Amino acid sequence: MSIEVLRTIREVRERVAARRRAGDVIGLAPTMGALHEGHGSLMEHARRECDCVVASIFVNPIQFNQQEDYDRYPRTLAADVAFCEARGVDLVFAPSVEEMYPRPLRAFVDVERLSEHLCGAFRPGHFRGVATVVMKLFQIVQPDRAYFGEKDAQQLAVIRRMVDDLNLPVTIVGVPIVREPSGLAMSSRNQRLSAEERTIAAALYRGLECAASLIGAGARDAGEVKGRALAMLASEPRIRVEYFEIVDPEEMQPVGEIAGPVRIAAAIWVGSTRLIDNVLAAPEAPAGHPSQ
Ligand code: PAJ
Repeated sequence: MSIEVLRTIREVRERVAARRRAGDVIGLAPTMGALHEGHGSLMEHARRECDCVVASIFVNPIQFNQQEDYDRYPRTLAADVAFCEARGVDLVFAPSVEEMYPRPLRAFVDVERLSEHLCGAFRPGHFRGVATVVMKLFQIVQPDRAYFGEKDAQQLAVIRRMVDDLNLPVTIVGVPIVREPSGLAMSSRNQRLSAEERTIAAALYRGLECAASLIGAGARDAGEVKGRALAMLASEPRIRVEYFEIVDPEEMQPVGEIAGPVRIAAAIWVGSTRLIDNVLAAPEAPAGHPSQ
């Protein structure tokens, strides 16, 4: 069966309901389009685990805190639909802004504490906009499983917590980060980078890996690890670091001493493009106490 592109909530509800009645497991991969292999990986995971794969493509205005960033966000629907088709997506839900927000929104989902640091500190209202649109997509599609990338680790933590705290009947699946051969995490925003900026941006992953290997080698003082990684990033003068933090992987709170697994997360600017990335790191289990 060929791919269907649906623009209205009513149509997507009808199509998905029919599939559910037939006993199909429904998977959802929410995106903002300008699709790349990172999104492709979500779709492939969904294709393996679900009978009916829905991809949503919607540049969500309420999660942008700068109008210019929203206006500049790439919109490439025809290419995106072809991309989805090649990955075996059954339904694309590509609503208009009016379809999703026919009048000013008065109800929002706020996931407190987890939204405080990292991107939350620099993009006020961003995670409220994300949690709210994802809640709406969950209500519209009613998926059994929904796929999110670890690339946006704070977003994934926020969504998991929303689903847990509000008892939403959906299983959240986290998908590993897909990277370019240089280590640069794939992102729709990479399109804005010049060839030279792309090379520069790859230093971000090296900085994160440097921090992770220090932790793996026994460093416990988060401040010291941060300092070493920041010094490494400083050798690339065209990178401006917005934040570089070591946080606990559940509540995304900065840690002082590294005693268990941590998420090392950073945002940088290269020219006028903002990029984020993260890695998970864990101190080695003490000798004689191998981890299970
Ligand atoms: P978008 O940036 O389009 O990303 C859609 C999904 O693809 C997210 O779950 C993101 O983590 C994942 N993704 C992006 N790049 C990836 C990579 N290199 N490797 C693995 N996964 C990657 O995130 C959003 O859209 C929006 O906030 C959304 C959840 C759709 C709500 O509007």
